[in-house]
Amino acid sequence: MSFGKVLTLSSGTTIPQIGLGTWQSKPKEVEHAVETAVRNGYRHLDCAMIYENQDEVGAALKKVIPAVVKREELFITSKVWNSGHRPGEVEKELDETLKALGTDYVDLYLIHWPVAFVPGKGIYPPHPTKEGEVELDFEPSLVDTWKAMIALPKSKVKNVGVSNFTIEHIDALIAATGVVPVANQIEAHPLLPQDELVAYLNEKNIHITAYSPLGNNSIGLKKLTDEAVVQEIAEKLGATTAQVLVAWGVYRGYSVIPKSVQEERIISNFKQVALSEEDYKKITAIGHGRHLRFNIPYRYKPMWDIALFGEEAEAKATHKVKIV
Ligand SMILES: NC(=O)c1ccc[n+]([C@@H]2O[C@H](COP(=O)([O-])OP(=O)(O)OC[C@H]3O[C@@H](n4cnc5c(N)ncnc54)[C@H](OP(=O)(O)O)[C@@H]3O)[C@@H](O)[C@H]2O)c1
Repeated sequence: MSFGKVLTLSSGTTIPQIGLGTWQSKPKEVEHAVETAVRNGYRHLDCAMIYENQDEVGAALKKVIPAVVKREELFITSKVWNSGHRPGEVEKELDETLKALGTDYVDLYLIHWPVAFVPGKGIYPPHPTKEGEVELDFEPSLVDTWKAMIALPKSKVKNVGVSNFTIEHIDALIAATGVVPVANQIEAHPLLPQDELVAYLNEKNIHITAYSPLGNNSIGLKKLTDEAVVQEIAEKLGATTAQVLVAWGVYRGYSVIPKSVQEERIISNFKQVALSEEDYKKITAIGHGRHLRFNIPYRYKPMWDIALFGEEAEAKATHKVKIV
């Protein structure tokens, strides 16, 4: 069985290039998905407190460790949620994650978003005055949370990084602490190539993991797997459209974490196909003159009234990130 290519993080740890995403994987689905994935060669699992399914991922891990793999053969990522940003909360939340997953450590622990929510009020605390909005917390800055992340015991987290962070955010973390995040997990696919951010992260040797590589269609728009050029290239290569989209991310040199709960897709998404330079360029051209970011928290329900990415859709947001 092939376990796929691995990449090396700045810490020297290796990370399998293709991982399994677990967001929106429902209870009763995710346990089977994780078990199927590991039995079919996946060694990289992407998890988070907010996915509210880490206990089921943990149930799957019990089935495959040690029957199929040793714990040290897996690369498990998890993320501190927005309500865990205050320095006193960070390790407490990590402990909850470790308990749910049933493991002593995670291989990579990320700050999920550069946004804090008031702690102790649940995952999505309601705003006291405005309906449908999350109550944001401006007590901790990103730097405060980063300091707590880098102080976490090595026995519990092998590497620490960030997710959804911009160049400005990362520059501030480095300026304040001298510690460069090992990874930044970002949305990246042909409609959101993030070339400037990718170049910056490569230059700083910060590993990139691309999320929503298939262009998660949960907001009801045309799926990337339905793009004519993706279908054409898939047909030519005798591959699936999802394999072609994963290959587009692989061509760019980072790790890619497609999510599926369907057995056949989990298996086929992991089988790599190689793109020629010509096909890579054709797929890249899908994004020329088009731009689409699927994950904009200002549009979430409940909404987060904060501008994160300088997107037009965030123009009416009234808050900015508290960086330092
Ligand atoms: N850091 C962050 O803020 C963040 C944000 C978003 C996502 N992520 C991570 O990245 C992972 C992947 O992103 P994502 O879940 O947003 O989107 P995605 O992986 O791009 O797309 C998932 C969607 O594609 C479908 N799909 C999977 N394989 C397919 C195939 N072979 N053909 C056609 N459709 C297919 C899935 O449905 P089925 O399950 O029914 O197959 C699901 O609807 C997440 O699960 C999560 O772990 C992180």
